[in-house]
Amino acid sequence: FQSLQASRFFSQLQPKCSFGIAFDIDGVVLRGRFPIGGSSRALTRLYDDSGSLKVPFLFLTNGGGIPESRRALELSELLGVNILPSQVVQGHSPFKNLLKRFENELIVATGKGEPALVMSEYGFKLVYFGGRKVLSLDEYASYFENIDPVSQYKTWTTEQVSTRSCHSVPGYIVSSDRVKAAFVISDPVDWGRDIQVLCDILRSGGLPGRASGHQPPLYFAADDLEYQAAFPSERLGMGAFRIALESIFNRIHHRPLEYVTFGKPNPFVFKNAETILSQFMPSCLAAKGDTGSYPFETLYMIGDNPMVDIKGARQVVETVEEAVDYILKREFYS
Ligand code: G3P
Ligand code: MG
Repeated sequence: FQSLQASRFFSQLQPKCSFGIAFDIDGVVLRGRFPIGGSSRALTRLYDDSGSLKVPFLFLTNGGGIPESRRALELSELLGVNILPSQVVQGHSPFKNLLKRFENELIVATGKGEPALVMSEYGFKLVYFGGRKVLSLDEYASYFENIDPVSQYKTWTTEQVSTRSCHSVPGYIVSSDRVKAAFVISDPVDWGRDIQVLCDILRSGGLPGRASGHQPPLYFAADDLEYQAAFPSERLGMGAFRIALESIFNRIHHRPLEYVTFGKPNPFVFKNAETILSQFMPSCLAAKGDTGSYPFETLYMIGDNPMVDIKGARQVVETVEEAVDYILKREFYS
């Protein structure tokens, strides 16, 4: 990969013993589902012989689509180390902080994986006895006949979700409930359908097929234009989808699209990583009796995308294993 940033992304200068590492996933630790760059060996070095964490680390990815708990299990299996759910920060992880804002409202979530399940883990509800409600865009679209005029040409099979849940609640009509926000939690699968239905929701004020209304908030988990997957050259990411949606929306609607993007390189993402890493600070934190401050001297981010992971970073090492080797030598032997 292209870069390792051995910088202090926060300015706290406290007593030594204090460093932590944030690992990007796609293009650094994994390529598709395959470990790369000696990632398993590198991570093993961050544990002691008894399997306890020796160096605080976490994964800081703009990807997502499944709950953090499930991603932790998946990473543990692929990498051969025991990863905790709290060591996984995905692009959509900050969405949990928006729960209060959409109390008692219907929201929709889209992207690969299980977008509604992800949001339900944050507190949005999959069952509709009042309270917050979340539907995947797949399920939401299934309540509107002919909303996707080319659906009959799509040869893949999807679960007929509309018979699953909402019908079990007498009197609840999805298409009459105003959508109060839309979330893009991971890379959308069916761009055409998603752009169509999101445009419907956004320009109608949350009631597709009805007259124009005030645009509900739209949130993107990240804004990566491209990212490294299994294919030899980079793949279009959520930022590319955002550009496509925005370009079309702005041509068909009188007001420009409003949206908020999360994920790296937003500074709060790194600040949040610092807070989480402090929970993994081994004995030195407890020994100091320090509960409120974050005594890291250096926090390292190992990433592959200088535009997203480390703005303006220099190329220093080639693999994640070399990066970890560099860090451990610098911290323990310099
Ligand atoms: O879809 C995933 C991509 O946007 C980036 O993932 O792990 O390189 O931040 P990562
Ligand atoms: Mg990456």
